[in-house]
Amino acid sequence: MPLHQTLKINDSTTIYLWKITEPFEDLFDTVALTDVNYIRLNTMKSEGHQKGFLSVRMLLNHCGYSDFDLYYDEFGKPHLNDGKHISISHSFDFSAIAISDENIGIDLELIKEKVLKIAPRFMEISHLEHLSHQDQMKKATIIWGIKESIFKLENEVGISFLDHIFENPFQLAEKKCTAELHFNNTIQQYTIYFEEIDSNDSEQMSQNYTLVCAMK
Ligand SMILES: CC(C)(COP(=O)(O)OP(=O)(O)OC[C@H]1O[C@@H](n2cnc3c(N)ncnc32)[C@H](O)[C@@H]1OP(=O)(O)O)[C@@H](O)C(=O)NCCC(=O)NCCS
Repeated sequence: MPLHQTLKINDSTTIYLWKITEPFEDLFDTVALTDVNYIRLNTMKSEGHQKGFLSVRMLLNHCGYSDFDLYYDEFGKPHLNDGKHISISHSFDFSAIAISDENIGIDLELIKEKVLKIAPRFMEISHLEHLSHQDQMKKATIIWGIKESIFKLENEVGISFLDHIFENPFQLAEKKCTAELHFNNTIQQYTIYFEEIDSNDSEQMSQNYTLVCAMK
């Protein structure tokens, strides 16, 4: 399956989504990997994780890059050799990359019931009041994505989702909000874009994902 969707966030930022429908072998035969990443691929425990990793290389190819243009820093944050910024996320049947002139963070998450169980660990649950059960799941997944995206953007040890990252009030229909990081005696502001991604599976029940992008 080729590219699923492209989202242009602003003049210098685009997000590319891949729907992973190919067998492992097709992905593996299509992309070239560095020796380091070939070893990393072979240490991954699940084929699902391997396919997510390889499909990110399909997206890189689509954007005119390859695995050889990418490197990871000591914390695991990806960087491009040409100085553009990149952020990567994968979740079950989808993967996503964002390419930008600015530092960015993205997070893709399958909307699942489980998010409501763990919500008190990462967010203020009163922010889910007066919503239907379905919308509570959506909103909690977006808030999780906001915190993951800001974490990926900043890439700093010691950031707590619950204690340091705060989303400002938003409605699901707005697709945009703001958030703050209170860390190391400073407050930083972020613009957040979010979108629901429909997997469009005709044979089975369609599963929805949230995609969140954070920028300073
Ligand atoms: C590293 C982390 C951000 C990955 O997020 P995830 O939802 O598990 O997985 P995703 O698929 O969305 O993202 C994985 C990608 O993030 C990128 N990434 C990993 N570490 C990163 C970092 N420190 N900074 C930025 N990006 C990072 C990588 O590109 C990785 O994919 P790849 O290695 O295949 O290229 C996450 O596991 C983490 O450590 N979060 C913060 C810890 C925390 O506070 N957790 C919960 C508290 S309640």
